[in-house]
Order: sequence, then structure tokens, then C-alpha cells
Amino acid sequence: MTGIFYFSGTGNTLWIAQQIQKCFGGEINYIPTYKGNASEYNRIFIATPIYSFGMPKHVYEFLPKLNKTKEIYVIQNYGGMSGRADKLFFDICKEIGLNIKSIHLLKMPENFTLFFTPPNFYKNRILKKANAKLGKIITDIKTENYQIPKNKKTHEYTWRKNMSNWHLIGKNFHANEKCIKCGKCIQVCPVQNISMQNGQITFSDKCIACLGCYHRCPAKAIKYKNKNKKDRYINPNINEYDIGKDLK
Ligand SMILES: Cc1cc2nc3c(=O)[nH]c(=O)nc-3n(C[C@H](O)[C@H](O)[C@H](O)COP(=O)(O)O)c2cc1C
Repeated sequence: MTGIFYFSGTGNTLWIAQQIQKCFGGEINYIPTYKGNASEYNRIFIATPIYSFGMPKHVYEFLPKLNKTKEIYVIQNYGGMSGRADKLFFDICKEIGLNIKSIHLLKMPENFTLFFTPPNFYKNRILKKANAKLGKIITDIKTENYQIPKNKKTHEYTWRKNMSNWHLIGKNFHANEKCIKCGKCIQVCPVQNISMQNGQITFSDKCIACLGCYHRCPAKAIKYKNKNKKDRYINPNINEYDIGKDLK
């Protein structure tokens, strides 16, 4: 059976995992809550967003746990610049001794939008193109037209440095007076970084910068520093409540 592993803050990667499941069958597993080494599967897909030209912390920490004999196919998605994250991913997997068959890059709408607002028409255009491009990636994998990144310089240093600082970003969020105290941010946080203390939403120092709380708050009450940005993003082609779930 096929095992599909994903991490997702705002649903883009979940959408990819679901398209893979439609074409190859199998089980979708959410990386932060998965406890095994994937030996129950004969083929493994990893779907991950690109963070700082690399990968999220959870994905990085998951890789060494994987069974080394299994064939692995990777789809990395990014909002604007992949920064050769495919080569970095490949190098790390090779170092661990994983059996990587193919790595593909897919552009999706940007979710690191704390400082700018992409127009809606642009997001819609990217979503439409992504649909066609993912179809092509799936055909490539089915026809064994595998992609292995060529020798190119990666941004490993920047990625590792940023990854070690992501926990600091949590301290820059706060819930403003629009907060309806529904507790959704507490529930969606993959690292239990958010809690209710004395009736106030409080952020601790374990953030991994997925921005799930920021984008998914129903009252748009979570603010970054003193920014008063109103736009939020959740992939429109998934059920938001499936983010973070296993889908078997
Ligand atoms: C902490 C963080 C870092 C990111 N770094 C990059 C990056 O280096 N390059 C890029 O093009 N997009 C970057 N993005 C955007 C995401 O990779 C992209 O929007 C992805 O589709 C989000 O997937 P998700 O909806 O499954 O969370 C970053 C997003 C976050 C939250």
C-alpha cells in the first residue's frame, strides 16, 4: 500500500496529498502525529511546503525515522522562490541513506503573507496552474519519468539558521480585541504553543512558524506585531478541518 506523509499549515500541501491519494490510493498521514517508520507501506510519498528554501522542522525531524528500504517520492511546494530546496532535500535524504526515487517542485499560493497581500486573481491563477502541473507530476511518476535535482548550490546555511529561530516568531503574535475565545488557534497549533491564560490567548516560545493560527482564526483576531493586515489564506479546495488529520 502507498503511504502519503504531509505537513501543512494552510492546506496547500494537504490538497497535494489528497490529489496523490486520488491517483495512487493509500493512506494519508499527518507527519507531526505519526509515530512509526512507514515500514507498513511499500511506496512512500512525502508532500511538504518549502520553508526558508528548505523544509519545516517536523519534516526534517521525520526523515531519519523512515525505513531506508522504501521507495520515496517527494513533492515540495512553495509560494514564490523554491531556492533549490529540492537539492537540499535530496542531499539530506542521501546523507541519511533514504531511497529517493523522484523529487518534484510545485508552485502554490504564498502563505507567508505577514508583510504583503497577493491579489486574489494571482492566487486563483496559481491554483489553476498548480492543478495542471500536479497532473503532469503524477503522470511523470506513473511513467517513471523521475526527477532528481542536478548539482546546484543550496541555501542550507540560511535554512538552518532560520529554522533555529522560528520559535521566536511566536512571541510576535497576539490576539486582539476581536478574539471570540473559541480556542481554535489552540486546537490547530501543531506544537501546543498557544494556550488560554487568565482569559487571554497566549503564545509561548515553541512556534514552528506554520502560520496556521494566523490564517485560520475565524475572527482574524491574530495579529503579527503591529500589522493590521486583513487578508488571510486557506487553500479553497480542501476541507479546512482536515488539515492535521490522517485520511485513510
Ligand atoms: C515559515 C515559512 C517559510 C516559507 N518559506 C518559503 C520560501 O523559502 N520560499 C517560498 O517560495 N515559499 C515559502 N513559504 C510559503 C509556503 O511554502 C507555501 O505558501 C506553501 O504552499 C504553504 O503550504 P501549506 O498551505 O500546506 O502550509 C514559506 C511559508 C512559511 C510559513
